[in-house]
Amino acid sequence: MGILGAGTVGAAFLRLLERHGGVDVSAVLVRDVAKARDVGTWRPRFTDDPDLVLDGVDVLVELIGGVDEATELVARAADSGARVVSANKAALAEGWERWGPWVRGGRVGFEAAVMAGTPVVGPLAGALRGSRPIALHALLNGTCAFVIDRMEGGMDAAEALAEAQRLGYAEADPSIDVDGVDAAHKLCILARLAFDPEMPWGRVAGGVRGIRDLDARAVRREVARGRRVRLVASIWGGGDGWRTAVRPVVVPESHPLVLVGSGRNALAFTGDAVGDVLIAGAGAG
Ligand code: HSE
Repeated sequence: MGILGAGTVGAAFLRLLERHGGVDVSAVLVRDVAKARDVGTWRPRFTDDPDLVLDGVDVLVELIGGVDEATELVARAADSGARVVSANKAALAEGWERWGPWVRGGRVGFEAAVMAGTPVVGPLAGALRGSRPIALHALLNGTCAFVIDRMEGGMDAAEALAEAQRLGYAEADPSIDVDGVDAAHKLCILARLAFDPEMPWGRVAGGVRGIRDLDARAVRREVARGRRVRLVASIWGGGDGWRTAVRPVVVPESHPLVLVGSGRNALAFTGDAVGDVLIAGAGAG
């Protein structure tokens, strides 16, 4: 196995791999070989030379994020017959022209790209396909969920975001979270799994509003009225075309997306045969 990246996700993956054992890791690609990393007691070979990671691997695990560099490195592995596992929602959403054929050919596993370890890619690509989809409403960004939760409790937005970064929720550039783009990347992936296999990224990106302008006092006013603000990613419509949106929504506190608990990711899917299905769990951190 070759591994790209040892940042927040990569280091956590290495610690997990150490617990499981039995995997022969060629090398781990990093920008700065000398940097101290919390990867447990195990010391895989860190390198800044992609050749040492890619040459002859059976499986490539891509955890560097971003679109262009990740796509080029994955292309090298895929072209030489390796299987790829990636948590890269940005590349999957924005780089579908390249990634689509690898995904359709069964060469890429990407369960962790949406809702982390909570399984949604498998169910949407598998069992739920037995129903005609009607709608999906989801909380897909842990950072925004965490920031809104802390706002409800009286913290201001900047303080809450700093805490989310410390806990490992946020992207390297947290504006991707705050502006709703991360949730939109994930929504685009889900849309292609169960609604429209060729959903263009540009269509999803056209309907995105994040939490940057959310006023903490307004959030607390809603709590006092028995309602909650949530950043909701939605797909609905069908008929003459699926519509998508990511935006803050006021929902009653009795709504399933609120009852799953603060800070959690959740996905509510409605299909004609299966009815309403709710999947919830940790999605970041
Ligand atoms: N920044 C992401 C989030 C990480 O806050 O949900 C998990 O994809």
